[in-house]
Amino acid sequence: MSNYSRIIAGVMKWGAWGAQLNTSSMAKLIEGCLEIGVSTFDHADIYGGHTTEAEWGQAFQQSGIQREKIQLVTKCGIMMQSDQRPNIKAKHYDTSKGHIINSVDTSLRNLKTDYIDMLLIHRPSPIMNPNEIVKAVDELKSSGKVKQFGVSNFTPSQVELINSCVKVDCNQIEISPFELSSFTDGTLDQCMLEGIIPMAWSPMGGGKLFAHSSDPKSLNLRERLSVVAKKYDWSLDEMIYLFLLHHPSDIRPVVGSSKIDRIKIAVDSMHTIISDAQWFEIWTAATGVDVP
Ligand SMILES: NC(=O)c1ccc[n+]([C@@H]2O[C@H](COP(=O)([O-])OP(=O)(O)OC[C@H]3O[C@@H](n4cnc5c(N)ncnc54)[C@H](OP(=O)(O)O)[C@@H]3O)[C@@H](O)[C@H]2O)c1
Repeated sequence: MSNYSRIIAGVMKWGAWGAQLNTSSMAKLIEGCLEIGVSTFDHADIYGGHTTEAEWGQAFQQSGIQREKIQLVTKCGIMMQSDQRPNIKAKHYDTSKGHIINSVDTSLRNLKTDYIDMLLIHRPSPIMNPNEIVKAVDELKSSGKVKQFGVSNFTPSQVELINSCVKVDCNQIEISPFELSSFTDGTLDQCMLEGIIPMAWSPMGGGKLFAHSSDPKSLNLRERLSVVAKKYDWSLDEMIYLFLLHHPSDIRPVVGSSKIDRIKIAVDSMHTIISDAQWFEIWTAATGVDVP
């Protein structure tokens, strides 16, 4: 079993889709993460239009960090057109055995590694065949190319379907003040019941929480959350990490920042314990309504 860090570095915006870090800056950021205890890195084949895995692999090689010191999560299944994949004619999902295995082989080459710690199916396909997924995962696990398997953005019934054929070790879902449904729709209950690691993507709403938005919904949400943050002398991002980390399912935030100081805020928040009453103050600010 891999030892995933509680705070995970999401690299989606480290490359072409965001900060556009060069190899040295990316290597420095990987080293910085490791120094503060963030040893798990979250990838997907499509990030940066199919370019970020390879850029990250280059940076990792330059860093000279031993492979065993880190854990790699990556995803497959979204067929997205990019300069690297001009033959894809329309965006769709592919969860066939052949595609899953090919995608892992490409990720291994890009990331310059011989194994993936956690492979995720990126999105549930309405036409996915669990037998195809199982055959791929069995083959990948027995060849040692993949250590653990999970899903992303799956509903509890979709997880149940796959989990009945092959152990699902993770469900990576969107959780933030903008997206609270996993707390009440059975997703986090199922993680606790079945021993599934919940990873929370876009904990800051992809940055929406800080953006200068004219959208009244976001403005009101930020205003309500800021009142609670101010009351306890927390920064807004610190408060959201405290909120996620308090849940008994051991949510692992996948932090999207490309700045080490901001990633460190997530790490430091692991040292603060909030009360249940404070958790509900944040919940109420996020939903905008008192609990019944
Ligand atoms: N499974 C899925 O379907 C899925 C979908 C989306 C994302 N993900 C994963 O989740 C990770 C996180 O997603 P995300 O990037 O949307 O996460 P996020 O942490 O919600 O947002 C990160 C963005 O917010 C900005 N930000 C963070 N803290 C800030 C602060 N204190 N002040 C101002 N701006 C701040 C960051 O900019 P700076 O870089 O300048 O700090 C960055 O652009 C991704 O990297 C990816 O690994 C998975």
